[in-house]
Amino acid sequence: MSVRILQFGTTGQLARELLAQAKDFDVEITALSRAEADFADPQAVVRRLEAVKADLVVLAAAYTAVDLAESEPELAFRINAETPGAIAQALGAEGPALVQVSTDYVFDGEKGAPYQESDPTGPLNVYGASKLEGERRILAASPRALILRTSWVVSSHGKNFVKTMLRLAAEGRPIKVVDDQFGRPTAARDLARFILSQARRLASAPAGDPAFGVHHFANAGEVSWKGFAEGIFDVALGAAAPSVGASATADWPAPARRPARGTLDTGKLERTFGVVPRHWREPLAEIVAELPSAERSAA
Ligand SMILES: NC(=O)c1ccc[n+]([C@@H]2O[C@H](COP(=O)([O-])OP(=O)(O)OC[C@H]3O[C@@H](n4cnc5c(N)ncnc54)[C@H](OP(=O)(O)O)[C@@H]3O)[C@@H](O)[C@H]2O)c1
Repeated sequence: MSVRILQFGTTGQLARELLAQAKDFDVEITALSRAEADFADPQAVVRRLEAVKADLVVLAAAYTAVDLAESEPELAFRINAETPGAIAQALGAEGPALVQVSTDYVFDGEKGAPYQESDPTGPLNVYGASKLEGERRILAASPRALILRTSWVVSSHGKNFVKTMLRLAAEGRPIKVVDDQFGRPTAARDLARFILSQARRLASAPAGDPAFGVHHFANAGEVSWKGFAEGIFDVALGAAAPSVGASATADWPAPARRPARGTLDTGKLERTFGVVPRHWREPLAEIVAELPSAERSAA
């Protein structure tokens, strides 16, 4: 029998990839949109949970507006912490297993090396603090929850860095990108396929299985935003790639502070699941190929 997945979120980068990739796996997804289950209303979401029979619950709905969160902390915490916590509580120890996606922004970026799951957290912004509180509430309520921290998520849809860079190049504008923030880009598709590939194990694993708890998932290859922009132009535009100037985080004042080096170490995930994330250049080529040609031309 297929693994029955109840997915929250239908329109985001990860949500779309889960739905698009499901055909390659033995899963059956019921996905609920914001209109059907608004994470700003925890009790309404819990009621939806009780109405659907599932083996695994996957949360692909989140408050992701990092700068806006600084002025809407209450809403960010409700969506990213209170509702995920209420879901975990409702599932308890006997219900379906749970997958939540969290972020490298739970770290302050000052470690000076890639972060392991056991490293102390220290979010610099409201978004990171709200996601960390979500992790805590889920882990306190559910012994069968997998928290996947990821970073720099990109895809051929939604708003993301790949699409922004290619738009700037198409407009022929001078491009300057910060060279003092480092991380690991992650294709929403690769994250989605990892989750789907583990659905059966997660659905049947008992509490205490090493699959549960916090794991880091990111594509391989640490890079600065400037280096990532250059990679994007190289893959998408080849010889027509524009040159990318360097700037500093301090040149772009923003409401939310970001970690300078939130790079995630994925060794634990590789050992636990026997999966090694590929280098970000590989999915990047797929993303670029999926974009309409107008979105990947040089000016
Ligand atoms: N994007 C990144 O760079 C990044 C980095 C690290 C971790 N993450 C984490 O990865 C996960 C997936 O991110 P993503 O890039 O796929 O995010 P995304 O593209 O911004 O999508 C967010 C999704 O959440 C839904 N949503 C927002 N508010 C909601 C509410 N009140 N009730 C129900 N649904 C709501 C959105 O629906 P609407 O279309 O209705 O708004 C959308 O489907 C999130 O947990 C995020 O925190 C992302």
